[in-house]
Amino acid sequence: MSKREKTQTGVAPANRMHTVSEETGQIVDLVLDYSRRRMLGSDTPLDKPMSLTELTRLAGSTITEDGIGARRALGLFENVLAPACITTDHPQYLSFIPTAPTKAATAFDLVVSASAVYGGSWLEGSGAVYAENQALAWLAAEFGLPSTAGGVFVQGGTLGNLSALVAARENAKRARAERGDETPIRWKIVCSVEAHSSIASAARVMDVDVVAVRPDEFGRLAGGAVREALDEHGESAFVVVATGGSTNFGIVDDIASIAALKDDHEFWLHIDGAYGLAAMLSPIGRPYFAGVERADSVIVDPHKWLFAPFDACALIYREPEFGRLAHTQHAEYLDTLTQTPDWSPSDYAAHLTRRARGLPLWFSLATYGGGAYRSALTASLQLARDIAAEIERRPELRLVRAPQLSIVVFERDGWAAADYEAWSARLLNEQRAFVTPSSHAGRPNTRFAIVNPMTTFEQLVGILDSM
Ligand SMILES: Cc1ncc(COP(=O)(O)O)c(C=O)c1O
Repeated sequence: MSKREKTQTGVAPANRMHTVSEETGQIVDLVLDYSRRRMLGSDTPLDKPMSLTELTRLAGSTITEDGIGARRALGLFENVLAPACITTDHPQYLSFIPTAPTKAATAFDLVVSASAVYGGSWLEGSGAVYAENQALAWLAAEFGLPSTAGGVFVQGGTLGNLSALVAARENAKRARAERGDETPIRWKIVCSVEAHSSIASAARVMDVDVVAVRPDEFGRLAGGAVREALDEHGESAFVVVATGGSTNFGIVDDIASIAALKDDHEFWLHIDGAYGLAAMLSPIGRPYFAGVERADSVIVDPHKWLFAPFDACALIYREPEFGRLAHTQHAEYLDTLTQTPDWSPSDYAAHLTRRARGLPLWFSLATYGGGAYRSALTASLQLARDIAAEIERRPELRLVRAPQLSIVVFERDGWAAADYEAWSARLLNEQRAFVTPSSHAGRPNTRFAIVNPMTTFEQLVGILDSM
């Protein structure tokens, strides 16, 4: 059959997947119906992983020459594949860093897909870029950055950190070259030994060294130790990374004392606030973040504690021009985009094609307003404090550290790593909670990472009772 010929349904085979037809109408209805049920359901189970053998038995091979049809494919997703994915926005998902997208943000993610918006350039997506930039400007203002600050939403904290660090090094190179200084043989990133693994990953990609500095007795990287590192490594230390909420404990480095070093040392200050910087929106969290206003770049992941769906990291530069100079890709076919003063998000990170992944956050912020965010964040910060107090009341439990943000780490008397593992597996098997074992300084423990305002004190108490 030639491309022009039509089937009985009147649709040419080449057009079948794109045209608006009865078939495509049914597909869209099926998908929207599923999405509606998932978004508005209040009893989505936690679910748990399945083995490859089990999945192969239940789902089998799904891609065939003629297709299995949307109804069967969606049925497989709903009944086999989705139940093999842990529900990361479940209130009792308390491991790693969970996610808890608002209903508006999740719903709007469908709109972003449906609209085929291109988020890379002003030319193609000015409306989307305008809205994303409003969300970034709102965040920048909350963090105390100047109104000229700006940036881009990238895929995740790892890419956000890498992009900021690349901009920092380009900036250092340029500054040294302008002064006629020699380029250091090895560039160095100064950060805490507790910094997230994505900093070491960025260093490997950039082929630079990491100077891992010991934190103070409270687990915070602080000015004194950073000063020693800067004095020792001199010109080669181009950036200091302070963590605004460590992943293990939610500890915020002593950013103010590090930022104060800018008065007499030349370095780029980057804040990795992937998880924790969101807490600045709450009066409980804000005091920990003094000094952020002096940062040269910050990141915060809306898919962590700013209630947006996967995946989005807000990368904000104090002086966006440094980001643009570091990242703009040059090619003949792109000149039409890059040789204009227009703001093109692609120019501000290590990427080109991009989904307008900041739009779900923008829509949710626009819908509910900043106050709703403050309430939701405050609820988790308060809950962390309440459950920490409960842990302290229980003689068989020991709080490893008092929580600063919303991560609560604790030990059960007499438990070895195997006990935590067995308990954690049982909780998930019984679909009660997803709480994984962790450890600190060689001692096994477990932790609650709370970002979902639907998590309750009673649920957490129930988990403690199960130990
Ligand atoms: C402090 C911190 N930085 C960076 C990252 C990496 O972010 P992503 O997983 O979005 O790449 C994480 C992830 O948990 C984190 O907690």
